[in-house]
Amino acid sequence: MALHVRSMAHDDLKWALGLNQANLPALGDETEASFAHLLDVSAFALVATVDGVRAGFSISMTTGADYASVNYRWFCDRHAEFIYLDRVAVDAGMRTVGVGRALYAETDRLGSAATAPGLPFCLEVNLEPRNDESLAFHDRMGFVEVGQQRTPSGKLVSMMERPLVSSPR
Ligand SMILES: CC(C)(COP(=O)(O)OP(=O)(O)OC[C@H]1O[C@@H](n2cnc3c(N)ncnc32)[C@H](O)[C@@H]1OP(=O)(O)O)[C@@H](O)C(=O)NCCC(=O)NCCS
Repeated sequence: MALHVRSMAHDDLKWALGLNQANLPALGDETEASFAHLLDVSAFALVATVDGVRAGFSISMTTGADYASVNYRWFCDRHAEFIYLDRVAVDAGMRTVGVGRALYAETDRLGSAATAPGLPFCLEVNLEPRNDESLAFHDRMGFVEVGQQRTPSGKLVSMMERPLVSSPR
């Protein structure tokens, strides 16, 4: 199995939005326009491929992004500098073979270079409605809960962090 991670390209957008929408309510509901804005304000938008086929994507921000998300803002209120992973999704047929881990390793590498190793790598996972798959994944990835909040859409989310790791490629 050849697993690669690269930057998201313009011709990935339709596929990525489709995968996003196939994973509601785990991920935020987006339109073409709101998804394009998300990419505009992101620092790292990544696509993982398995044997040349798109398998998953992630989108992350650094500090100072023009992003109104209450979850991103929650971390802005707590840290001067951090990496925020806004979303990750892996195609249902390609899960538990290391695609998510590969996307996080590249986010760690890029995030450490953009900020510094050891700074917070932040994200949230839904508790209501509960996303057990993602909670198990993030536990394996070393994330710990640092708070909870209720979002305007009514979700209860677990705010999670771990330090950025500077891992070799
Ligand atoms: C969460 C998600 C991104 C995980 O991606 P993935 O590619 O399947 O994860 P990986 O294969 O890289 O797994 C990494 C580790 O997490 C573990 N893991 C992943 N999914 C798991 C699950 N459902 N239950 C238990 N452990 C799990 C793996 O066993 C692996 O552990 P190991 O390396 O020690 O063997 C994927 O399930 C997904 O896209 N879910 C739908 C969208 C979503 O919920 N996104 C997250 C929103 S917060």
